[in-house]
Amino acid sequence: MTSQSADVQLRDPGLQAALCAAQRVVVFSGAGVSAESGIATFRDSLIGLWQNFDPARLATVAAFEQDPELVWGWYEWRRMQVLAAQPNAAHLAIAALANTNLELTVITQNVDDLHERAGSAQVLHLHGSLHQPRCHACGEAHRLPPEAPREPTGGRRLSPPICAHCAGMVRPGVVWFGEALPEHSLQQAFETAADCDLLLSVGTSGVVYPAAQVPEIALRSGAAVIHINPQRQLLGIGREWALAGPAAEWMPRLVKTLLSR
Ligand code: OAD
Repeated sequence: MTSQSADVQLRDPGLQAALCAAQRVVVFSGAGVSAESGIATFRDSLIGLWQNFDPARLATVAAFEQDPELVWGWYEWRRMQVLAAQPNAAHLAIAALANTNLELTVITQNVDDLHERAGSAQVLHLHGSLHQPRCHACGEAHRLPPEAPREPTGGRRLSPPICAHCAGMVRPGVVWFGEALPEHSLQQAFETAADCDLLLSVGTSGVVYPAAQVPEIALRSGAAVIHINPQRQLLGIGREWALAGPAAEWMPRLVKTLLSR
């Protein structure tokens, strides 16, 4: 994206008006927001995780019960990648929005902690977190070693830790296919989406439900929605714009515009 093409896209009068009027802002993020930190997305061709790994063998309760070492080792590999990564300009720009008089809610489908490490507090994680494993048997939270090893395990099989409470097997704290999303976070996400006047949908394919309802709810409730994604995406519902390009380039521009109103 050249800065000239970005300026042309940003100059759209409807988009400018939406940015000027915004008071209650929701950022709804997906894997694309972390792409420039070196974390793989799921569905991008060639490099997406689900292009190279079978979700049925890695991201279901049945897969964990059948082969816990394979599943735990794969999530530990991903966790190590996240620990070695740094927040990028998009995460930082989003965090900067909190230091304004806007009412900001950050809702993410991501299981990394890069929003938090950039400075965003109280992020709603709709798909759980790599960093909050729990017991598969009793649900007790499991504390990971504070000084986690930083070398990626290369996807080696690893035995899951044992729960200190009931000696059950510890599982990754992410939401797997077929599982319910954390009820409280999902409800809060839907309510905030229904009540916002601007939603920035950053780096998501928007194909996984119920999370994908968040921008739909915002649009149907009359909010403006801006999609930030190298792949042009519009839902065709209401007042929406697509800004084509990487989040780490767009988010600082958008935030600068919001701050200079
Ligand atoms: P996807 O991999 O489905 O989509 C990532 C999106 O990010 C795509 O639309 C890309 O075009 C876009 N993208 C790639 N690079 C980008 C960049 N630099 N800046 C902005 N956008 C970029 O990931 P999600 O939409 O997050 O669920 O996937 C939703 C859920 O599906 C995930 O939370 C995960 C997965 O199965 C669970 O693990 C439960």
